[in-house]
Amino acid sequence: LFHLLIALVFGYLLGSIPFGVIFTRMAGLGDIRKVGSGNIGATNVLRTGRKGLAAATLVGDALKGTVAVVVAGLWGQDLATVAALGAFLGHLYPVWLGFKGGKGVATFIGVLIGLMPLAALIFALIWLSVAYLKRYSSLAALVATAATPPVLWALGEPKMAGVILILVVLLWWKHSENISRLVAGTEGKIGQKG
Ligand code: G3P
Repeated sequence: LFHLLIALVFGYLLGSIPFGVIFTRMAGLGDIRKVGSGNIGATNVLRTGRKGLAAATLVGDALKGTVAVVVAGLWGQDLATVAALGAFLGHLYPVWLGFKGGKGVATFIGVLIGLMPLAALIFALIWLSVAYLKRYSSLAALVATAATPPVLWALGEPKMAGVILILVVLLWWKHSENISRLVAGTEGKIGQKG
């Protein structure tokens, strides 16, 4: 149990590094939380018009999840899964930002890469298809995340599917404003400045 707690805290600390805030501040763009949707993620960093910074945010926020899972995974599958939960919670509720973090899409795919690369690939294909067809980053994320627990289950990982389902519920909860905007037809499209 002690090891599980260590893995959770380790994941949390890595996950709570807010790359979107750090990179935009380093680039002299001020506080990303005052831009567009106010979110700290890559989609909102893209609204500054800086594609490189958005890509760096996506990679950073994903990689912290992958690293947490892979390192904890050296001590076994259960610790990897708990570290995934920790990293995701860290990104959503970072202690450094008064627990007001991001919406979790990049970190979701990051932990998935560490846990089960095939499921991450399927996630990416679904995300890209919806994003290409509809041009909404949020909608692509909502569809791709919802598909992931059944995918993991079908791949013979019911325990992992259960933990990932917790992440999906939290991610959907964090997207409640996006869902309202999607329903109202007022959601911003990818790359649209806000
Ligand atoms: O990755 C977050 C995305 O799904 C929505 O971001 O900035 O449009 O609220 P945003």
